[in-house]
Amino acid sequence: MSAPQRLGILLSGRGSNFLAIADSIAEGRLRGADIAIVISNKADAPGIAVAAERGLPARVIEARGRRRAEHDEEIIACLREHRVDLVCLAGYMRLLSPDFVRAFPQRILNIHPSLLPAFPGLDAQRQALEYGVRVSGCTVHFVDEELDHGVIVLQKTVPVLDEDTAESLASRILKQEHLAYPEAIARVLSGEYEIVGRRYLPRRNKAS
Ligand code: GRF
Repeated sequence: MSAPQRLGILLSGRGSNFLAIADSIAEGRLRGADIAIVISNKADAPGIAVAAERGLPARVIEARGRRRAEHDEEIIACLREHRVDLVCLAGYMRLLSPDFVRAFPQRILNIHPSLLPAFPGLDAQRQALEYGVRVSGCTVHFVDEELDHGVIVLQKTVPVLDEDTAESLASRILKQEHLAYPEAIARVLSGEYEIVGRRYLPRRNKAS
């Protein structure tokens, strides 16, 4: 069997998507992957404390007061040091510099709590609610140099209910995020796809 592929997780906060990925690996639902390093740009991110409690390599690389390029260089070096194959942004609240994106071409994933291209940026669930859409969801996509913009790997939908608040909609979407992210990572790690224009296309099984 080939060696597991090495994930680098970047987070800034709660870390529930990171945990969903870690649990999927621990429970054998995401085969062929290992978490090589968890990095937070904030020392007080609950997610980084959980990573350390679980005995995963965890590092804080503070962003505050530093130029983006310099901060990103340190993160890239840390990811390289841990021989990361795929970078997963999991609530990482900082734009990546173009150099970062170029350092891992089509090897950075992000999850966003809306059906992109609708409602990029902050507070996506509130944006969706206030716009009046009847369906929302989450998107896992490759990261390119524009915000919430790269090729879409997977989307999951949820209904928007009349009685929803931004919080209730966010928690319905979050349940789908926890399914979507491990599933998208498995798809990307399989390598069984091609990207045509903006489209992610799974390769057809030759036998079928
Ligand atoms: C999630 O809603 C994710 O889609 C967005 O940031 C939030 C992070 O939540 N990018 P968590 O830290 O994974 O719990």
